[in-house]
Amino acid sequence: MQQHSDSPYSHSSYRANPYDWYARWRDVHPVTQTTLPSGAPVYVVTRHADVLAALKDARLIKNVYNVRHRGWLDQHLWRRFTDSNMLKADPPTHTRLRRLASDAFQPRRIALMRPGIEQIADTLIERLRDKPQFDFVADFALPLPIHVISQMLGVPARDHARFHAWSNAIIASGVLSSERMVLTREMLALSRYMRRLIAERRRTPGDDVVSQLIAAEVNGERLSQTELVVTTILLLIAGHETTVNLLGNGLLALLQHPTQWQLLCADPARIPAAVEELLRLVNPVQLVNRYAAEDVEIGGVTIPRGAHVQLVIAAANHDAAVFARTDTLDIAAETGRHLAFSQGIHYCLGAPLARLEGLVAFERLTQRMPTLQLATPDTIEWRAGLELRGLVRLPVRQS
Ligand code: HEM
Repeated sequence: MQQHSDSPYSHSSYRANPYDWYARWRDVHPVTQTTLPSGAPVYVVTRHADVLAALKDARLIKNVYNVRHRGWLDQHLWRRFTDSNMLKADPPTHTRLRRLASDAFQPRRIALMRPGIEQIADTLIERLRDKPQFDFVADFALPLPIHVISQMLGVPARDHARFHAWSNAIIASGVLSSERMVLTREMLALSRYMRRLIAERRRTPGDDVVSQLIAAEVNGERLSQTELVVTTILLLIAGHETTVNLLGNGLLALLQHPTQWQLLCADPARIPAAVEELLRLVNPVQLVNRYAAEDVEIGGVTIPRGAHVQLVIAAANHDAAVFARTDTLDIAAETGRHLAFSQGIHYCLGAPLARLEGLVAFERLTQRMPTLQLATPDTIEWRAGLELRGLVRLPVRQS
């Protein structure tokens, strides 16, 4: 096992192309100990077989408070929020939160959202039709998921701009990579907003997700007020930048492989398979974090109790042991075993919605903007951050 003195994550070559780092780790040190940019030690797991097994291993947990001693303030203040957040909780808390939220995300419910998503995509495309050049990230990939989730939560149209601004500021604050909820000004404003929205839906329920979460009851249990607020904010955050990255990184990959783009434009029936291949190739979420609740052996390496472990799903999704083509796009490839939505108990609750958004977006783009091309193919700029990989901007042109 190799130890790094400085963090590889801080290298500019990592930001430009993490897949070269992943390949080296996967081939030479599939379970390696390294450091985060903060200097904290972390174990990194990169092979598909190891990542898949680790995602299903109950000894690798999410909630740092369940394995490491933290200060009094942390235990009493932050723990309450972490315990209300499904993404960071462990069983039995996680089981309860997930069960209560699951109904709203049943595939049959999500399928009903298709016309609404199509309308959002069409409106965005309409605004861009006469522009010879535009930024695909700012003008399409960012607004589409925020409109979808706003509609789903029942946020009235007059509040979309405020909601959008808070959501972007919260995501930029790096909340996803934090061990706990970060209380920024925007987070407080959004919590206040959600409290008001929840109170309104208690008085007058609708058929939106907030009303469904309020009404959800399993074995006589319901979500508490704090859990309702945290869950609605989680849905907003977990479903936003991830989907932006699927659309932005996905279009970049397609335009970098013009014959594949043309294939899709000519045959929309290929789009569902193409979305799966894009998820495998571009990995909106690069890695997920866990803590060892006891000593755990992975790939012949013993990870000690309390250690922080990163499971690099993006490295697993480029593993030649499982996928015939690793770093290039092949929309006809069999990609069923990709881990882009994770696996095990934390498997993405929003996967059916994310897939539908990808499907509708690429259907509409291939049909209505088939002449799209990269405007600045030599200057691709990636956002900072380890967990998510997305573009700062994607200038495109059309004829
Ligand atoms: C392309 C888009 C998306 C990707 C790649 C993605 C990926 C993921 C991944 C990898 C996880 C698991 C994290 C872990 O194992 O630690 C996850 C969890 C989650 N995702 Fe997504 N996601 C996407 C879109 C969405 C959407 C649209 C929503 C909802 C609006 C959503 C809601 C959630 C929730 C609530 C969880 C927590 C599930 C749990 O902990 O049980 N995601 N997502």
